[in-house]
Amino acid sequence: MAFAQLVSALILSSFFLTVTPTEVPESVTNEIKELFKTGQAPKNLAKDLENFRMPRLFREGMENTYEHPVICFFCNLLVDLAIGERRLGASREVLAKEIEFICVHLGIESERVCTGVIDLNIDVFLYIVDNYPNLDSHRVCGSVLQSLGCSPGDNFEWSIELPSGSSPVRPKPNDTLDSFKILQLSDIHYDPNYKPYGNADCGEPICCQTDQGEPSSPENTCGYWTDYREADVPWHLIEETVRQAKTQEFEYVYYTGDIISHRVWETSIRNNSQSISDLFTYFKQSFDVPVYPVFGNHEPHPLDLWPTESVKDEKFSVQWLFELVSGPWSELVGQDISETVLKGGYYTVSPKPGFRIIAINGNLCYTYNWWLIFNDVDPYGQLQWLTETLLEAEKNNESVHILSHVPSGTSESLSVWGREYSRIIERFANTITGQFNGHTHRDQFHVYYNSSNPTQPIGTAFNGASVTPYTASNPSYKIYDVDSTTFDLLDYEEWTFNLTLANSKSSNESPDWYKLYSFTEAFGVDNLSPVEVDKVLYKMAENHSLLDDYFLFKFRNGDAGIKDGCDDKCKKDNLCEIATTVYGVDVHCNRFTDLYDKGQ
Ligand SMILES: *[C@@H]1O[C@H](CO)[C@@H](O)[C@H](O)[C@H]1NC(C)=O
Ligand SMILES: *[C@@H]1O[C@H](CO)[C@@H](O)[C@H](O)[C@H]1NC(C)=O
Ligand SMILES: *[C@@H]1O[C@H](CO)[C@@H](O)[C@H](O)[C@H]1NC(C)=O
Ligand SMILES: *[C@@H]1O[C@H](CO)[C@@H](O)[C@H](O)[C@H]1NC(C)=O
Ligand SMILES: *[C@@H]1O[C@H](CO)[C@@H](O)[C@H](O)[C@H]1NC(C)=O
Ligand SMILES: *[C@@H]1O[C@H](CO)[C@@H](O)[C@H](O)[C@H]1NC(C)=O
Ligand SMILES: [Zn+2]
Ligand SMILES: [Zn+2]
Repeated sequence: MAFAQLVSALILSSFFLTVTPTEVPESVTNEIKELFKTGQAPKNLAKDLENFRMPRLFREGMENTYEHPVICFFCNLLVDLAIGERRLGASREVLAKEIEFICVHLGIESERVCTGVIDLNIDVFLYIVDNYPNLDSHRVCGSVLQSLGCSPGDNFEWSIELPSGSSPVRPKPNDTLDSFKILQLSDIHYDPNYKPYGNADCGEPICCQTDQGEPSSPENTCGYWTDYREADVPWHLIEETVRQAKTQEFEYVYYTGDIISHRVWETSIRNNSQSISDLFTYFKQSFDVPVYPVFGNHEPHPLDLWPTESVKDEKFSVQWLFELVSGPWSELVGQDISETVLKGGYYTVSPKPGFRIIAINGNLCYTYNWWLIFNDVDPYGQLQWLTETLLEAEKNNESVHILSHVPSGTSESLSVWGREYSRIIERFANTITGQFNGHTHRDQFHVYYNSSNPTQPIGTAFNGASVTPYTASNPSYKIYDVDSTTFDLLDYEEWTFNLTLANSKSSNESPDWYKLYSFTEAFGVDNLSPVEVDKVLYKMAENHSLLDDYFLFKFRNGDAGIKDGCDDKCKKDNLCEIATTVYGVDVHCNRFTDLYDKGQ
């Protein structure tokens, strides 16, 4: 053991020597080492860290903001020091204070947010350090900061057992005889602390809070309905959205997760439970059709954390959350689904003959789920269960819709999980007729390709965008049109309202909701099948003005989101996003960006 540690320490230190970015002077590294050795910050450290400020580092979508090698260097350094110090007996308090010092002086968040978040998370980190003898910083930084390209070393490698054969093509009628509608709502992020006309310029992960003082100017005043800056959704906007959606007809509702607000430094089991129960009770009262919910990453306390059964300390358990929803979800879907919900927050139901919904807990792969550091192998056996459930559906000639919060290809979805998930999608390509995601708060879609025939599209996933504007978007929902025989997706409509306009009117006036676009009309294709959606990618790569439309749709025309427009880089990033379903696998991204460059 000691020898192994010595060897790994040597390997690590030589690794640092080779990758230390020249911008980080050795004196700073030494000061940080001293902090972790003595518990006292050397007098220049605060000032020196100022040069490397990383505001909002852990907020979603920040990966384009930073120079990655510097951040990965800091991450590896800090994690190795913290592990080393803990192994020598450092206490929770000492380590928390040291990490807080770094968090505050790197300007990552405000002092109260740093303190709150570290206090909520440090016990998990310490549990992992104490129970994972060979833990190294690459395992930590390579997952937590995968989105910044930090190296995972040789960690995270496993696979799911798939049944042999490939997905049999099923005979389909030539024409649609009949269709029905499905409403997708996503990412409500209900904020009980929302203060209309409060302070929208607060410097914290969420503004417009009752305890953030008064706005400094009219421009910094939160709107009545919500706000484009860091703001979530007051109850009256939930009511307004549901009321408006109900003016449409639909047979089912998909809710693709995230109920809790972005006041991430101060969650509690009690308050999360209250918000979750309030929302599902309201859904039950409001909709007289089945509602199919999935978990978002914000539902646990602390957020993002899903310990598996290998974690032997009750205090981390999320069983309270599974128990909380198992009754309400069974009521919403119209049958008892508690067995699998209690196991891992997933379930399956067949709402009508020939049709199956599989709802998975897509947050297990989320890289901010620190428990992946402890155990990343198919958490809760969920992907194996998904495989078996799909095989059963295949045998029964059922068509399947999969609901899952985090899309598989984002930079914050652990790459190995996305790869295995995509293998499953490919194996059952002719059984799965739709995938529905949330989480990014953007109106987006993805195309999955055949790994042994890379230009063959075999699957699509659509994002429900979000009710919350967080950030810069107009609130929205989707209505899908679905073939009644094949359960293929025929089209969708995106509905939204102009938040600037709504907030400029008096508060007793409802926002003017309107249909932003329908997919087939906007992109000039026949339906939402993989083959048609793939055509959209070719069209976009050639006709860049379609990418301007896609950009506007992404934010649902939200004034704050669209004000800077979308340059070539932004357009190519959007193409890549659509064509990427496993983080780090860029072949399809490259195919379409090459085409884009030729189109110039
Ligand atoms: C479906 O279309 C194919 C080819 O266009 C045709 O041969 C077949 O007869 C059609 N089937 C039905 C049921 O209309
Ligand atoms: C929970 O909610 C109550 C009532 O809104 C609030 O006073 C309290 O501060 C919240 N607790 C936490 C830990 O946020
Ligand atoms: C599924 O479809 C195939 C081919 O159409 C048919 O032979 C088989 O009996 C069907 N199975 C079930 C369970 O309906
Ligand atoms: C993927 O491509 C291989 C090789 O061409 C083919 O055998 C397989 O059927 C394809 N998969 C699907 C789902 O079409
Ligand atoms: C939204 O409404 C505001 C206020 O009327 C207007 O200035 C703005 O142009 C509108 N935004 C869009 C995208 O139409
Ligand atoms: C390009 O797309 C736009 C829609 O954004 C459409 O109006 C235009 O006709 C397309 N141009 C070509 C050459 O297809
Ligand atoms: Zn969300
Ligand atoms: Zn989310």
